[in-house]
Amino acid sequence: MILNIYEQYNADEGCHERWKRWEQHRNTLHSVLNEQIFSSAGIKDAVILGAGRCEDVDLRRLLKHVESLTLVDYDYNSMEKALERQQLSRQEKEKIILEGNIEFTGFYGEDFVTETLDKIKRKENPESVVQFVKKHLSSVKDSLGELLDNRPYSLVISGAVHSQLIVPFTQIAAFDSEYTDRLMQEAAPIANILAEDYNRSLLSLVKEGGWLFSYFDVMELSERNQMLAYEDMIGGLIAQEEYDKIDAFFLQGGGVAGARQGYNHLYELVKQYEPYKKCWIWPFRDNKKYYIRSLCFKLTSC
Ligand SMILES: C[S@@+](CC[C@H](N)C(=O)[O-])C[C@H]1O[C@@H](n2cnc3c(N)ncnc32)[C@H](O)[C@@H]1O
Repeated sequence: MILNIYEQYNADEGCHERWKRWEQHRNTLHSVLNEQIFSSAGIKDAVILGAGRCEDVDLRRLLKHVESLTLVDYDYNSMEKALERQQLSRQEKEKIILEGNIEFTGFYGEDFVTETLDKIKRKENPESVVQFVKKHLSSVKDSLGELLDNRPYSLVISGAVHSQLIVPFTQIAAFDSEYTDRLMQEAAPIANILAEDYNRSLLSLVKEGGWLFSYFDVMELSERNQMLAYEDMIGGLIAQEEYDKIDAFFLQGGGVAGARQGYNHLYELVKQYEPYKKCWIWPFRDNKKYYIRSLCFKLTSC
């Protein structure tokens, strides 16, 4: 099953090291939540989309400010393990609802995946496979609200999800090398459409008067793309809040598919709420970091 790729990604070892390495990243996240939201409001019901291994959030710290917390991901097991790793008490666990096996986009329906793979196995013309994929993409309806019983939340959190929505498609594309190049050419535009649809789903989950906080891994800084050398320069621009300059100087190549467009699209959708913007560098692995952009805002009737 193609969606098992999310479990495989989350299954990599090194939770202990990652928890330490991501401390500053977690602290930044919590500082945004504390300063923008919890300083003025107690939250009744919060939801985290893409909770996964929950290594970017200190659940105990978050639970102090919310009456209930729903964790949502395709990968149920990682969330379950996270509750154990973070050593939640019985009372803390009682506030948590786990929603696993939920796929955010609706794009990867079983019929679609099977039919696409059959076409590839039958060696259909790659162009007709691409057309089939695009047609399916344009017919996908937002189903996330329904999967969560149409329950809106007072706080919706999404972290580094926009970039991941394309991952199963890249698995399909990699199925046969004859098709890979042609299908991969479509990956970035499809990632951007999935990110925009996901933004609409996120907004539909927020209650009137509720909050949304989303962060986006818009640019990779790694040895592979030779961007690590610019980390200090980007850090300096972040400190001066020169985000447009970072975009202009460093994101000409497009940044991370799905994430950069996800940020820009969400900003356009919600700028009337005057979102708070915060950017930072996430030390993802030893030799791989991400430039993060985030938006936090209250959904009010204007
Ligand atoms: C980069 S991780 C976010 C970091 C995560 N909160 C942590 O601390 O490890 C993205 C998460 O989103 C989930 N995800 C990505 N795309 C998804 C989709 N289409 N449907 C459901 N879950 C998805 C993945 O399983 C993964 O756990």
